[in-house]
Amino acid sequence: MNDLSHQPVLYKEIIHALQPRRGGRYVDGTLGAGGHARGILEASAPDGQLLGLDVDPQALVLARKNLAPYEQRIHLAQASYTSLSTQLAQLEWDVVDGIVLDLGASSMQFDTAERGFSFSHDAPLDMRFGPHALQTAADLVNKYSERELADLIYQYGEERDSRKIARAIVNARPLHTTYELVAVIESVSPRRGDRIHPATRTFQALRIAVNEELASIEEILPQAVATLGIGGRLAVISFHSLEDRIVKDFFREQSKDLVNPPYERIYEVERRATLKEVNRKPITPSDDEIKNNPRARSAKLRIAEKL
Ligand SMILES: C[S@@+](CC[C@H](N)C(=O)[O-])C[C@H]1O[C@@H](n2cnc3c(N)ncnc32)[C@H](O)[C@@H]1O
Repeated sequence: MNDLSHQPVLYKEIIHALQPRRGGRYVDGTLGAGGHARGILEASAPDGQLLGLDVDPQALVLARKNLAPYEQRIHLAQASYTSLSTQLAQLEWDVVDGIVLDLGASSMQFDTAERGFSFSHDAPLDMRFGPHALQTAADLVNKYSERELADLIYQYGEERDSRKIARAIVNARPLHTTYELVAVIESVSPRRGDRIHPATRTFQALRIAVNEELASIEEILPQAVATLGIGGRLAVISFHSLEDRIVKDFFREQSKDLVNPPYERIYEVERRATLKEVNRKPITPSDDEIKNNPRARSAKLRIAEKL
C-alpha cells in the first residue's frame, strides 16, 4: 500500500468512536500511512490538530505525503507511542480529546519484502518496526537458547508445536532469511489442510518480541488515560488475543473504583474509576470489510471514555 486507496481497518468506527470536533486535539499513536489521521483531521476541520507518531521512518514519509493538505494542523514525529507524555510536553498540550492506537504492523510493512515480516516473501529476518528496536528476528533466532525460543513461540505465538519448532531452529542455525525459517518450521509442523500457514504463529511471536509490542501497550495505556481530558476517548484496535486481553483487562480495571478492603460493606475508596467502557464487547469489522481486506478479519476495537 503506498497511498490511501485502501481504507484503514475499522475506519468509520474509529471516527465515530472519537467524535472529532473542531478545535479538538487528537493523537494517532500508530500513524502508518495516515488513514485514520486523515479522517480525524477531516472531521475536526477547520482547526482540529493532530499529533501523529510512528517508529517507522518510511511510514512517516508516506503519512507526510498523504496528509499534506492538513500540513498546518499536524505535528508528526518519528517516536514510539510510549513516549506520548514527552511528545505532548514538547507541544505544550496538557490534555487531548482523543487517542487512537491501531496496533501491529501496517500493510506497507507486510508488503515490503525486505522488511522480513511476511513468510510469503524471501528476505532477511528483520521484522523491526523501526530502527529503535535493539534486535532483529535473526538475532533472536540465532542467539536465544532452545528453551527461550520455545517459550517465546508458545507465549507470543500461542503455537502448540513450539518445542518442536524451537529444537529444529537450534539444529538448523544460523538462519538468515524468512524462507530458511519457513522451511525449518514446515519440516516439523507440516501444512494441515486449509488451516493457517504453519509459520504464521512463529512469525507473529518473533515480531512481537522484536518490537516489544506487549510491553509497549502496557506502557501506553496509563499514559493515555492521564492525558485525556474528561469525556476524551481512547480507541484501540488489536489484532490478536494477547493484545486484546491487555486492553480489555486495563479498561475493566480502570472502570471500577478501587476500594479497600475489597469485599467489606464498609470500605474506603482508594482510587475512583478513571474510565467508562463505551462498548462492553469489542467492535469487529463487517463481512464486507473483511471481504475487501482479509487482514481486517482478526481486528477488535475497544473504546473507553475518560471520566
Ligand atoms: C496497523 S499500522 C497503522 C495504520 C494506520 N492506522 C493507517 O491508517 O494507515 C500500525 C503502525 O504502528 C506503528 N507502530 C508499531 N508500534 C509502534 C510504537 N510503539 N510506537 C509508534 N508506532 C508504532 C507501525 O510502525 C505501523 O506503521
